[in-house]
Amino acid sequence: MKKVAILLSGRGSNMVSLVEAMREPDFPAGPCIVISNVPDAPGLTKAASFGVPTAVVPHREFKGQGREAHDRAVTEKIDEAGADVVCLAGYMRVLSPWFVERYAGRIINIHPALLPAFPGLHAQRKALRHGCRVSGATVHFVDAEVDHGPIIVQAAVPVFPTDDEDALSARILQQEHRIYPLALRLLCEDRLIVKGRAVHVKGEQPEMPLSIVSPASDA
Ligand code: GRF
Repeated sequence: MKKVAILLSGRGSNMVSLVEAMREPDFPAGPCIVISNVPDAPGLTKAASFGVPTAVVPHREFKGQGREAHDRAVTEKIDEAGADVVCLAGYMRVLSPWFVERYAGRIINIHPALLPAFPGLHAQRKALRHGCRVSGATVHFVDAEVDHGPIIVQAAVPVFPTDDEDALSARILQQEHRIYPLALRLLCEDRLIVKGRAVHVKGEQPEMPLSIVSPASDA
């Protein structure tokens, strides 16, 4: 049974989806701590309501000391909790190379776009501006570049002409809540093999629909 630390900065809906999945009896992992750099992040209250221990490491307290100083303080919390795996769930911090290296192969992130398209902030807005017909969500291993490491699971959603940023974000978020637990399960079952930039999944593949087309072909 692996132990999972979840890092967040905001509302924590992905954290909730992970914690709920980990409550299923056959899930190969359990949450050991939720850590935030933002003291009043709503996700902290949600985690506590599930009985998951929480910790706050405010980045503001490390002003002028460099990114790594904050990351080292976060690492202390992660390691005290005995975490094997780290999930970033709306953790709005660029990570130091030291931190990424320390958890290489056992730190994953979720991003609201079909990477490698639209890394960074406002991914849904960028997809709309580009007139994308399809967007989605990606869970990937974390490496030293933002939203960049090898892709584990993706889900695509259609983009409709009537969409605004909120509508598209909500549609993508629904998929985030499906694929993040799936990716965590695959990682914790030791079923992921990274070859170069690609991730191969050992064993039976999870079932999924064959394709989506947007706009629909009869439109
Ligand atoms: C999600 O859209 C996630 O993909 C991105 O930040 C957002 C966090 O949302 N990295 P929540 O805090 O999990 O609700």
